[in-house]
Amino acid sequence: MKDLSPRPGDLEPIETASRDEIAALQLSRMKWSLRHAYDNVPFYRAQFDAAGVHPDDLRSLSDLAKFPFTVKQDLRDNYPFGMFAVPRDQIARLHASSGTTGQPTVVGYTANDLSMWADVVARCLRASGLRRGDVLHNAYGYGLFTGGLGIHGGAERLGVTCVPVSGGMTQRQVRLIEDFGADGITVTPSYALSILDEYAAQGRDPRESPLKVGIFGAEPWTNAMRQEIEAAFDMHAVDIYGLSEVIGPGVANECVETKDGLHVWEDHFYPEVIDPTTGAVLPDGELGELVFTSLTKEGFPIIRYRTRDLTRLLPGTARSMRRMEKITGRSDDMIILRGVNVFPTQIEEQLMTVTTLAPHFQIELSRPERMDVMTVHVELAEGTPEDAREAAARDLAGRIKSNVGISARVNVAARGQVARSEGKAVRLIDTRPKEA
Ligand code: DLL
Repeated sequence: MKDLSPRPGDLEPIETASRDEIAALQLSRMKWSLRHAYDNVPFYRAQFDAAGVHPDDLRSLSDLAKFPFTVKQDLRDNYPFGMFAVPRDQIARLHASSGTTGQPTVVGYTANDLSMWADVVARCLRASGLRRGDVLHNAYGYGLFTGGLGIHGGAERLGVTCVPVSGGMTQRQVRLIEDFGADGITVTPSYALSILDEYAAQGRDPRESPLKVGIFGAEPWTNAMRQEIEAAFDMHAVDIYGLSEVIGPGVANECVETKDGLHVWEDHFYPEVIDPTTGAVLPDGELGELVFTSLTKEGFPIIRYRTRDLTRLLPGTARSMRRMEKITGRSDDMIILRGVNVFPTQIEEQLMTVTTLAPHFQIELSRPERMDVMTVHVELAEGTPEDAREAAARDLAGRIKSNVGISARVNVAARGQVARSEGKAVRLIDTRPKEA
């Protein structure tokens, strides 16, 4: 793999600033952001008033804990534009969640917000090892989803040649990566696996591809998956994190030279980790639910937003800003199987150790009789003989039993039978009867 470490002068001064400098900047920006939300969004004024707090009560960063949380339902209740802090005609762009499971949620950006977003995404791409003049193949979906256009803005800001291919038409993805000489690819890790399959289908060697780095996010993925993808493409694989409510992609990113968790761009997004049950702020290093407060956003300020993503905060390494550990999963995705808590990432970790199986998987929860049953649907790896099916199933079930602590059934399906994603993978299918 190519050395993509930053060269002297590559970084912005804030990326190597002292903790004191960062904290001072955060405090002045946080005061502004709370005041902006309170003065301009009736929802925040009502929330703060009900909790008996006022923006003037923030004297230190830890005072933020006095302010109330914001949750997804608040966005739904204020659909579509009720959370905006500027008149609608100052909103330059809208993005929205798909709303497949209920009312969609909408976020809005002023021209300044779009510029800040481009800045932080450019910082992510640079941290990933891309530089002005490189070619970026952007396979995140374009549209209301923030992935495609969010990366696009940052790519233009950094000065790379952006190929706005979006998701889908996998044959063409391979062709364009090769023909345009892509140095980097931005895509969900699950769709990267589909692209990998397509290389095999076309008889091409992915290790010969021009790609030097893949920037993967929008869904959880493990270090085991990183190794699989890095080996398959002979490129670096780094993690990018973000969510629409906070900005989109570009909230945090790994540095290619360390790959030790994602540096949160704390000059714009203030992170806290809380105990999901009590709401208490946890000290750095402890696992809990990630909460964000925007420090500079004009159109859609967000105060103490509960992401439902589980991680821990760690001190800075390659940059001064704190890191968040790779996301274990969302609290919504936690499966409780006969009393044991399981995240799909734990199954992924085990699957990656079975070389006779392909990396695609889906977890089904059913209740054939009175007990819940977990079935892990997988496929044989390319080149594994059909008669290895049973041994592979036994191997994976054994690893899940001894390392995750649950009994799961493993169904080794025919190649291509496990659903492929072109964006965010659906890892969990729940066919259990709904409780009355
Ligand atoms: O997924 C933004 C994004 C686009 C991030 C492209 C990275 C790359 P939403 O659709 O609002 O926004 O979904 C946000 O996706 O709360 C996490 O649960 C999950 N997620 C995003 N990045 C990661 C990651 C975009 N690197 C939700 N690891 C978040 C794990 C991630 N989960």
